[in-house]
Amino acid sequence: MGERPDITVVGAGIIGCAVAYELGRRGADVRVIDRRNVGCGATQASAGVLAPFIEADHPGPLRALGVRSLELYDEFVADVVADSGDDVPYERSGTLEVATDETALSRLERARQGLVSAGVDCRLLGRAEAREAEPHLGAAAWGALLVPSQGFVGAVALTAALCRAGVRHGVTFLTSRTARRVSVGDGGIEIETTRGPVTSDAVVLAAGSWAGRVVVDGEAPLPIRPVRGQLLRLMWPGAPLARVIWSPRCYAVPWRDGSVLVGATVEEVGFDERATVAGVTTLLDAVRDLLPATRDAGFDEVRVGLRPGTPDDLPALGWSRAVPNLVHATGHYRNGILLAPITARLVADLVLDGREDPLLEAVAPGRFNGA
Ligand code: GLY
Repeated sequence: MGERPDITVVGAGIIGCAVAYELGRRGADVRVIDRRNVGCGATQASAGVLAPFIEADHPGPLRALGVRSLELYDEFVADVVADSGDDVPYERSGTLEVATDETALSRLERARQGLVSAGVDCRLLGRAEAREAEPHLGAAAWGALLVPSQGFVGAVALTAALCRAGVRHGVTFLTSRTARRVSVGDGGIEIETTRGPVTSDAVVLAAGSWAGRVVVDGEAPLPIRPVRGQLLRLMWPGAPLARVIWSPRCYAVPWRDGSVLVGATVEEVGFDERATVAGVTTLLDAVRDLLPATRDAGFDEVRVGLRPGTPDDLPALGWSRAVPNLVHATGHYRNGILLAPITARLVADLVLDGREDPLLEAVAPGRFNGA
């Protein structure tokens, strides 16, 4: 690749936008293509919880990626805010993971021990202490695990800011254009799209749930499947929640504007982006049991997204072995927002500097398609 490599990113969700921004600010000439506008897939239906110790409840590759990414978050948000001029809601006010029976409380105690031995600050709270930490908790709460370093970010605002910051670094966005096939062409890597071919030095496939629908010459499709998540936006009726509240049946994320995002269903229903009565009532029942004050909350909206799931719940991140200079960056399942900073960094290191971080070993796309 030349002095200023020409790179196309397929997918304008948070992963595609983060990768494009990182490549752009490191000097590449970047375009992003998507069939829809920026952040219209799983991204817009994400509550933005940054909780690697909850999402990955044991040490392993997902936790390693999540912890590294969380470490990058302060700087990532600060850079994007500075480069875009946008405000991005971002708080590291902790998470309170609630147990609703004795077995769950014992599980949280084991989690606490594991975290303490890994050097993570956390505290197990009994029933009364948990109510003190969050007075809105209902009688169903037996106790809770407080992890102060976790938090949340405004996924939609962050993605819009990444887009604006990317544009300031020369990134261009081509929407209403669906990528169909990637192959080696005469002048570089060719992407066949619904509005003609696009050729570049390198390609990053970050198409989320739709990644498996982009044909890559010489490669079996990645086994990415859509996993529907429905998310509610409620207007909170009283004193705000202090932090993210997480329970086995739902989680709640408090925003400064008085709204609370309540997520999320996990549904294997294929490419169906409808909100359903069953999804909404399941979440309303769960959040009312957890936080009884919800009874008086206003109902603002329901959002629906398709998370890109993989057979082992890990992303597919790294070189294609079939098409040179093609990188897969997809399959982030429940963790696209959390993993955006580390994904952007790993992909930019790979594409621009040929540097393969050891973190990439466990998430190599070839483990699925043998390529
Ligand atoms: N990250 C939480 C979810 O996908 O529901």
